[in-house]
Amino acid sequence: MADAVVVAQGLRKRYGNFEAVKGIDFSIELGECFGLLGPNGAGKSTTIRMICCLTEVTGGSLAVMGQQAFPGNLTIKRQLGVVSQDDNLDPSLTVRENAEIHGRFYGLPFRESRQRADELLEFMQLESRVDSQVRSLSGGMRRRLVIARALMGRPRLLILDEPTTGLDPQARMMVWAKIRELRTQGVTVLLTTHYMDEAERLADHLLVMDQGLILERGTPAELIQRVVGEDCLEIRELTDGAMDAICAQLADYSAYLERQVDSLLIYGEEMEAIIESLYGKGLLPRGYYRRRASLEDVFLKLTGKELRD
Ligand SMILES: Nc1ncnc2c1ncn2[C@@H]1O[C@H](COP(=O)(O)OP(=O)(O)OP(=O)(O)O)[C@@H](O)[C@H]1O
Ligand SMILES: [Mg+2]
Repeated sequence: MADAVVVAQGLRKRYGNFEAVKGIDFSIELGECFGLLGPNGAGKSTTIRMICCLTEVTGGSLAVMGQQAFPGNLTIKRQLGVVSQDDNLDPSLTVRENAEIHGRFYGLPFRESRQRADELLEFMQLESRVDSQVRSLSGGMRRRLVIARALMGRPRLLILDEPTTGLDPQARMMVWAKIRELRTQGVTVLLTTHYMDEAERLADHLLVMDQGLILERGTPAELIQRVVGEDCLEIRELTDGAMDAICAQLADYSAYLERQVDSLLIYGEEMEAIIESLYGKGLLPRGYYRRRASLEDVFLKLTGKELRD
């Protein structure tokens, strides 16, 4: 706890009659990348908005770099770099101006602000677009600009709310590399994402939440091991009848079965025996494959199949 950058205890957020965050405990250690996962409406952005001192904490306590968070706490805000879910860039300004103006908030003098903006725009590979109007940028460039802007004040804690949503694979990989580079410089990162591969690659610790509550926590590897195990057998394009027959055949195994529309996911430790048993009964179609279980499997098991609004 001594090195914790964020400590939340019984943290709650109520909007009128609706409670978006219902008493959660977690801490983010210095230098780590902490991932916050959960379906739409889980309360991730609300939690982030409290950490960013943008909205009031309505229950429990929330310390950020040793201070209690409350709206307008500038001591905290000045040590944060924030990439919010919606990018709020000023479309009437150029790329450089958007970054530069942000530097003023951190008290950088004009010349230093410009120099830092240029360095960061180069770091995010936007140097050829410094004088472009923001409205002419692609979605990926806008996102990279928001990240450059978040770094203007040399933040101790960088908060990334879905940093790569809508980016193409090249841009996502570039952003991941930059996040890793920042971590080697000692920056602590709080990340939310709906991309489980992103969370698995970047995060040291994860918190899975849903409807304002914590469902699970741990390292990506721990969560996979604990929630679904390491092995997965995936059988696609099954009729209901074929799926029922497989499930019946596996009733005596300690496997966890996840029925999706026309596919069946089988998780368990005794995969060799399971495959043999299905094969022996002629129940294993050609279109099956065996793979390592992933964080995506963990997420689906924990949060179910139902769509959120
Ligand atoms: N200002 C607000 N007033 C009332 N309700 C709100 C407000 N902001 C968020 N909520 C509600 O709080 C809940 C949590 O929202 P939040 O934005 O924190 O979810 P999220 O986990 O970030 O979801 P997403 O993955 O869709 O971004 C949702 O039900 C949302 O409708
Ligand atoms: Mg959100």
